[in-house]
Amino acid sequence: MKGNIFLIGFMGCGKSTVASELQKRYGMEVVEMDQLLSERQGMSIPDIFETYGETYFRDLESALVAEIRKMENQVVSCGGGVVLREQNVAKMKENGQIVLLTANPETILERVKDDENRPVLKGKKTVEGITELMEARREKYEAAADIVIHTDKKPVSEICEELKQKLEERERQHV
Ligand code: S3P
Repeated sequence: MKGNIFLIGFMGCGKSTVASELQKRYGMEVVEMDQLLSERQGMSIPDIFETYGETYFRDLESALVAEIRKMENQVVSCGGGVVLREQNVAKMKENGQIVLLTANPETILERVKDDENRPVLKGKKTVEGITELMEARREKYEAAADIVIHTDKKPVSEICEELKQKLEERERQHV
């Protein structure tokens, strides 16, 4: 495979879990965008938001997408908001395929309810709050995606199999 695989989707949809399974199964290298940004800044994601504001974080995120574009064969676990800027999506498409992972708001809530690391979800950790934010972003996620995988009730092994099949299918069709 040439290029990169970008895993996108709402917070808690399983991007990091799928990325690390792909690493285990196929020995692919993984870029965890949030982890890398946090390491480079020497502070947590909530602290970056609080200290410098969301725009600053989004600028760091965009710069990292531009940097990753020059790499090959990486599985990139993207931050949930990476699709908010069209320029990021355009750069990702230049050298990679974009895989959207989806999950129901109920599933998302279950996964994020005890997590304090997601500033965007502050005060929104209810099915209604998550649904509202998800709906506001839906169009952007769907427009960016080359492949969509619904993850509800699927073990990570099944998600990876489905992903592999769909990538192979695209390769056969020379997409
Ligand atoms: C965000 C998602 C987070 C992180 C930041 C903003 C978002 O990543 O980048 O808190 O706007 O959806 P995860 O999707 O990995 O939680």
